[in-house]
Amino acid sequence: MRKGDHLDLECGGLDDQGAGLARVTGEDGAIPTLVHIPRVLPGEKAAAVVDHVSPHIRQGAREAWASLTTLGSPSPDRVTPACPAQASCGGCVLQHLAYPAQTEWKRAQVVDALGAAGLGAVPVGPCVPSPRPLGYRNQAKYVFGREPSGRLVLGAFVPRSHDVVDLEGCQVIEPPLDEVSRALRSLLDEAAVAPFVERTHTGLLRYVTLRANAEGQVLVTLVTNRRDWPGAVALAQALQDRCARVTGVVQNVNSSPGNVVFGPDEFVLAGEPTVVDAIGNCRVRLSSRSFFQVNRHVAALAYDAIRAAAAGLGNVGRVVDAYAGAGGIALSLGDLADEVIGIDENAAAIRDAEAGALAAGFSHLRFVTGDVAERLTEVAAADLVVLNPPRAGCAPGVIEAVGRMQPRLVAYLSCNPRSLARDLALLAANGVELGAARIVPFDMLPHTPHVETLCLVSSR
Ligand SMILES: C[S@@+](CC[C@H](N)C(=O)[O-])C[C@H]1O[C@@H](n2cnc3c(N)ncnc32)[C@H](O)[C@@H]1O
Repeated sequence: MRKGDHLDLECGGLDDQGAGLARVTGEDGAIPTLVHIPRVLPGEKAAAVVDHVSPHIRQGAREAWASLTTLGSPSPDRVTPACPAQASCGGCVLQHLAYPAQTEWKRAQVVDALGAAGLGAVPVGPCVPSPRPLGYRNQAKYVFGREPSGRLVLGAFVPRSHDVVDLEGCQVIEPPLDEVSRALRSLLDEAAVAPFVERTHTGLLRYVTLRANAEGQVLVTLVTNRRDWPGAVALAQALQDRCARVTGVVQNVNSSPGNVVFGPDEFVLAGEPTVVDAIGNCRVRLSSRSFFQVNRHVAALAYDAIRAAAAGLGNVGRVVDAYAGAGGIALSLGDLADEVIGIDENAAAIRDAEAGALAAGFSHLRFVTGDVAERLTEVAAADLVVLNPPRAGCAPGVIEAVGRMQPRLVAYLSCNPRSLARDLALLAANGVELGAARIVPFDMLPHTPHVETLCLVSSR
């Protein structure tokens, strides 16, 4: 198989990124090729043209990537995508798959990951759907750039390209975010603000992030290549005049190369640099760079499940909330425990968590800035350890520390089934009995291939 070849394929399943997968058998005993074709669903026949063939062989097969040219009869699970830019923005790769089929597929992803780690016996519950499959994201990140037509847009890079696709009308963000992004785009256009161009290191504005709270107030962060921007304050004030829901505009300066969004320095241009948001009954203060669960409705369900399991312990002495972010989980457990220690490496998030505890009147919550692996060694014992790491999962030292502490309950909330499965196997190797483990997938990010998984491990 070569780049440019035309293929007739039948899709047998989806890969872990949500693209269709078809197996092409090699002639005369040649090794088979697994072809990834975005936007094709299991059971569908498709004509496609090969874009890339990997030189590597994985698990006895070669891999190739192809683009759909013609689709045969559509799967009964195929639906019309809600978003105008779905085909090119690269975010919601599953929008053409009916929502119930998405959650079934996500549960299967978790089952497969556990099976591959030798944990096939751990039961996995049904995937909890998002109460809102659209309009659920409370944060939006835009690249500021020009469409090929030259029009300035707030958009996203088309995958594997430097072209920017307009995200106006995005259906997965909360509606106030789209309203603010439209107003901001017009103001940036009127002020002729130049997009930053990485290749030539020219221009000014790189990214825009918007964060909405449950009341629809919006914090705007303008990420620029340099501090110097004479029109910044006037633009921020004009945005507040046009959109009363904008409660703060912040300039973040990021002059580093690469695609990290935020730089270290921030300046308030108008209003407040934080918003107070809520997950269930728990109120959390958020600054531009603090991590916060993007789907407040699903996060509330996951937090409730952790809370119910904690309540089942009876008296709870100490809770450790590792990878605490702005303290959402720690705050939601505050009234159940004698002491809560939250740990996160992000100092801005820890300041937000401290402010949240103060506002809630909790003096028994303590937040520590630092690496979880290092800080956990300072904690002798805990009744409940919450782990909510980024996609890479926990460092081995974290799992070893949890094994040493032998808490009555471990609540591991994960955004990556593979690292979760790896860490659970390591927990078992460190003496944490998985026999009573309960696993519930949650659909935090409908239409994307991501699945959030909660694993509750209680000692019998
Ligand atoms: C998935 S978020 C957790 C957010 C929080 N539990 C919540 O519910 O909002 C992961 C967090 O881990 C933090 N983090 C990543 N690596 C870390 C490390 N090695 N040590 C401490 N914190 C880390 C990030 O700053 C981020 O806030």
